[in-house]
Amino acid sequence: MHLPSSVRTLVLIGFMGSGKSSVGREIARRTGMRFVDTDAVIREKHRKSIVQIFASIGEEAFREQEHLALLEQRFATGLVLATGGGIVLQKRNIAVLRSLGIIIWLNAAEQIIWERVSRNRSRPLLQTANPRQTMRDLLTLRVPLYRSIADIIVETDHLSREQVTDRVFHELNSWLSSRRESRC
Ligand code: S3P
Repeated sequence: MHLPSSVRTLVLIGFMGSGKSSVGREIARRTGMRFVDTDAVIREKHRKSIVQIFASIGEEAFREQEHLALLEQRFATGLVLATGGGIVLQKRNIAVLRSLGIIIWLNAAEQIIWERVSRNRSRPLLQTANPRQTMRDLLTLRVPLYRSIADIIVETDHLSREQVTDRVFHELNSWLSSRRESRC
């Protein structure tokens, strides 16, 4: 897959379990772009899992680390960037995300997200007495944020990583050609 050189960075946003990392890696594989995951940047810096990082420094300090991980990508080109589900919570991140490149929201139905995130305990924010309700509350807060900053929305329900990637390229091509037409 060849993308025009005007495409500097593809930014994947979306809720936990929406497939940002696996789809991001697949996009990178097919395009030859580099893949970076903000969570992985933080994990590598701390040499700990996200659960351990939340337990040792707390959410607020994690959000600071997340902001820094995002800033590190400011001048990158040829990058596919997967972001943590909460990256849209900080206003200062929104401007950076927009400046990076094209923002793609991987969306999924609540039930499907639940099936994915309840498989393991790797999401510290969902370690509550009623994780399903917590997840619903987080979704209610975040879905409008994802929608408001996305250039492209890709529905991922019941699709494999390969199928979602096909859809990303399809939507990306339509988006790029509509932009070209509007410039003519
Ligand atoms: C979070 C999502 C996680 C990780 C952290 C917080 C969130 O990333 O950054 O657990 O606030 O939604 P994924 O979206 O990759 O699971």
